Amino acid sequence: YSIADMGRHDHGGHTGTDDASTVPVDALTVPDDREADVRATLTAARGTITLDSGRTVDGYTLNGTSPGPEIRAEQGQLVEVVLENSNVDEGVTLHWHGVDVPGAMDGAAGVTQDAVAPGDDFVYRFIADQVGTFWYHSHQVSHEQVFGGLLGPLVVTPAEGAAAADVDVVVLAHLYDGRRTVNGRDGTDHVDAPAGSTVRVRVVNTDFGVMPVWVDGAPFRVAAVDGTELHEPQQVEDVAVEVPAGGRGDLEFTVPPGGGVRVNLSASTALLVGDAPVEASIPPTETLDLLHYGTSAPIGFDPGDADREFEFGIDRRPGFLDGKPGFWWTVNGELVPEVPMFTVAYGDIVTMRIANDSGEAHPMHLHGHHAVVLSRDGVAATGSPWWVDSLEVRDGEVYEIAFAADNPGIWMDHCHNLPHAAEGLVAHLAYE
Ligand code: C2O
Ligand code: CU
Repeated sequence: YSIADMGRHDHGGHTGTDDASTVPVDALTVPDDREADVRATLTAARGTITLDSGRTVDGYTLNGTSPGPEIRAEQGQLVEVVLENSNVDEGVTLHWHGVDVPGAMDGAAGVTQDAVAPGDDFVYRFIADQVGTFWYHSHQVSHEQVFGGLLGPLVVTPAEGAAAADVDVVVLAHLYDGRRTVNGRDGTDHVDAPAGSTVRVRVVNTDFGVMPVWVDGAPFRVAAVDGTELHEPQQVEDVAVEVPAGGRGDLEFTVPPGGGVRVNLSASTALLVGDAPVEASIPPTETLDLLHYGTSAPIGFDPGDADREFEFGIDRRPGFLDGKPGFWWTVNGELVPEVPMFTVAYGDIVTMRIANDSGEAHPMHLHGHHAVVLSRDGVAATGSPWWVDSLEVRDGEVYEIAFAADNPGIWMDHCHNLPHAAEGLVAHLAYE
C-alpha cells in the first residue's frame, strides 16, 4: 500500500471497533453536534498581494490578504474553519502547524486528505487544547504555496482568569519575493504600549532558514517555544534568540519608563513597541542556547524507559525522485519511502536520534506531536523542558528527542525548509 492510500483509509478516524480499549475516541474526533466557539471561513485564491508599502507580489491570498487573518481561541474552545478554494488549480489545504489536531484534521495533502479543488471546500474542526502560538498554512505543493503567502497566525490563550500580558501581539515573519516582512509589512510594524506595561511578542518564522531575533530597549524572557511555556525562564539581554523555519518564540518584557522596545527580525524589519528606538542595534554575537535555558522540571514520562528508539539519519545522495535524476536528501538512506518508516503503538514512549550529515541545516518538523529535547551532541539538556515541533538541526549535529505516541494517525516528519521536503526530506510516522 502507499502512504496516500493509508491516509485516505485513515480519514474517518477510528470507529472504536479494534483498539477501543486503548484509544480515547474523543481525542480523535469532535462530535458533529457540538457548536463551534470560533468560526472562520478562509477563501484561498491565486493572485496579487499588495503590501502596505505598495509593493506587489504574485502569490496566494486568504480572504484577499496575505498573511491570512489571525485566528484566536481560548483553551478548550472548538475551532471551526471552512477552507474554500476559489481558483488555485493545484488545490489547497490547511495544516495547523504545531497543533496536535486529530489525524483527519491535519491538512497534509495526499496523506490525511485530498487537496481541495477549485470550487470545493473542506471543514476543519478541532479543540484548541494547547495554549500557545501556532500558525496555519497550506500543505499542498507547500514550498510554493507557503512561500507564496498561503498562511496566517493562530493563537490559543488560556481560558479566562489566567494571567496575561497587558499587550499581546503576533509578529509573523515572511519573505515575500525574497524580502523579509513583519505581519505582511515591509519595514516595521508598530504597537502601542505605555511604560510599565508587560508585552508578549509571539514571533512566527514562516520562512526558509533560521531567523535570529534580538531586542533593543529592555531585557526580556523567552516565555515559550513552539507553543509550550518554558519553566522559569531567566531574564536575558544582548543575546539573539534563533527561531527555526516553522518555529515560534514568545518573548516577554516590560516597557521601560520613558522608552520603548524594538524587536528586530533583521536590521530593517522590526516590531516597534511604544516609543521604540528608531535604529536597530547590531545583532548580538551571542545566541541563547535553549538546551540550558530556564529551570528543569518533570516532563511527564521516562524517556530512559522508551518503547521505541528510532534513528532519523539525514544525508544526501544522487538518485531518482519521481523519475527525476538529482542530488536528493535522504532519511536513513531512503528517498521518500513508500511505506511509513516509523511505526508506533498508541501509548508508546518514543525516542528519536536525529543525526544530520547532509552538509546543510534542517529544521525538522514532526506533525501531530510535541517532542522534548533530551540532548545535543551528547550533551544533556539541563534547562526547562524544551518542547519542540520545529527543531533546527545543523550539519554535523545529533539531537535526541522524545515524545509520547498519543495521537493516532499518519504523520509527516519533514524538513521545514520546504524545498528540502520537496527534494526528499520527508518520512512518516504511523500507528499500528
Ligand atoms: Cu508547517 Cu508539514 O508543515
Ligand atoms: Cu532541510
